[in-house]
Amino acid sequence: MEILILPTPADVGRAAAGVIAAVVANRPEAVIGLATGSSPQGIYRDLARRVDAGEIAFERARGFALDEYVGIPQEHPQSYASIIARDVVEPLGFDPSLVQVPDGRASDLDLAARQYQAAILAAGGIDIQILGIGTNGHIGFNEPTSSFASRTRIKTLALRTREDNARFFATPDEVPTHCLTQGLGTILDARALVLVAQGEQKADAIAAAVEGPVSAFVPASALQLHEHATIVVDEAAASRLR
Ligand code: F6R
Repeated sequence: MEILILPTPADVGRAAAGVIAAVVANRPEAVIGLATGSSPQGIYRDLARRVDAGEIAFERARGFALDEYVGIPQEHPQSYASIIARDVVEPLGFDPSLVQVPDGRASDLDLAARQYQAAILAAGGIDIQILGIGTNGHIGFNEPTSSFASRTRIKTLALRTREDNARFFATPDEVPTHCLTQGLGTILDARALVLVAQGEQKADAIAAAVEGPVSAFVPASALQLHEHATIVVDEAAASRLR
């Protein structure tokens, strides 16, 4: 596991974007795992800048979102399908037909999860997975006690996650209670991982993930088991590392 500690959130976005750009430069048809939330926004902004500058192109790349809420329409501005379309597919110039998001509106969610997992395998697996981290140590929506062997499936969101994500919704009650998420096993299958975290509110989770025991109580500690995991944090998120 490689840890990069950088002065500012903007530095974090640029450095992590550099890791992804290197993968795509080497393999334009790379399969990229796409996180949503606040943490990767700087990555997507910096990648869009590189696209605009003609340094890199995503038109042949494939994308798989990390997760999706269950029970809100795809057109909802906070559905991850909407966010991926708005913040990733359009600015980076992905071919929309090559980008998938789990179907949180499916009538059979177990089947939708299995099909999503099969689609990742059929694409040859994920070359590089972008990750954020929850204040409770989750990655994707694999909440504490998730199995390290889990694959894409339905999960219940932890109360803390619903509280943290209430900022994206008009009222806390609107935050969905369930999601479809790639599993920890799915994430560990990716050939490379890049996790970003910014701000003091992530400092405990980063310290537990990086320096604590590998434990299902801290899902992000699973990254200690991966051969090609890069963690990029700003000084505030690194402030509780020893
Ligand atoms: C998002 C995801 C989550 C977030 C995490 C941090 O697709 O899977 O694990 O990365 O909840 O969210 P932010 O970045 O909003 O603090």
